[in-house]
Amino acid sequence: MRVGILGSGLMGGKLGTIFARAGHEVVFSYAQSNDKLKRLARDAHGNGRAGTPGEAAKEADALLLAVHCSRIDDVLKQTGNFAGKVIVTCCLPMDAGSTKLIIGTTTSGAEEFAKKVAVRGARRRTRLRRPRRTGVGVSVRAV
Ligand SMILES: NC(=O)c1ccc[n+]([C@@H]2O[C@H](COP(=O)([O-])OP(=O)(O)OC[C@H]3O[C@@H](n4cnc5c(N)ncnc54)[C@H](OP(=O)(O)O)[C@@H]3O)[C@@H](O)[C@H]2O)c1
Repeated sequence: MRVGILGSGLMGGKLGTIFARAGHEVVFSYAQSNDKLKRLARDAHGNGRAGTPGEAAKEADALLLAVHCSRIDDVLKQTGNFAGKVIVTCCLPMDAGSTKLIIGTTTSGAEEFAKKVAVRGARRRTRLRRPRRTGVGVSVRAV
């Protein structure tokens, strides 16, 4: 499987490395330094490479979105179109210091994220999981 990583920090870097070591083709993107993306790619046992968010999404079977929620708009803009992609995200709707949730009770991080992706190529959402309104674990298929 080809997996694009959008946000190569603690979550994206580690999960991408695990995917690559399991034999999947992984493109690491979106970090503050290209050297970090190249290092992650080097450590991925031949199955990783560094790229832009657009390159990570191109030909990917699945995308992992793993950025602070304040960076979601930027990374979505850099990625472009999501038509046909399965997107999995671990993003939580946290405040700047990641100390408390900024969305809850009437909506969720997952619902708000799904709306953002819908305007970037999705004609329908086929799966949206929303465990206890935390925003964790949503997967969206933008077809
Ligand atoms: N960490 C956890 O235990 C955990 C658990 C569950 C959910 N989450 C959620 O998962 C998401 C990701 O968490 P994380 O801990 O992986 O975050 P993180 O380590 O901060 O990773 C975020 C990534 O975004 C990159 N980035 C930030 N600002 C950027 C910019 N201006 N331009 C380009 N790249 C930029 C960072 O680059 P650098 O690598 O260069 O800093 C990093 O690669 C968050 O929404 C968080 O709430 C985290």
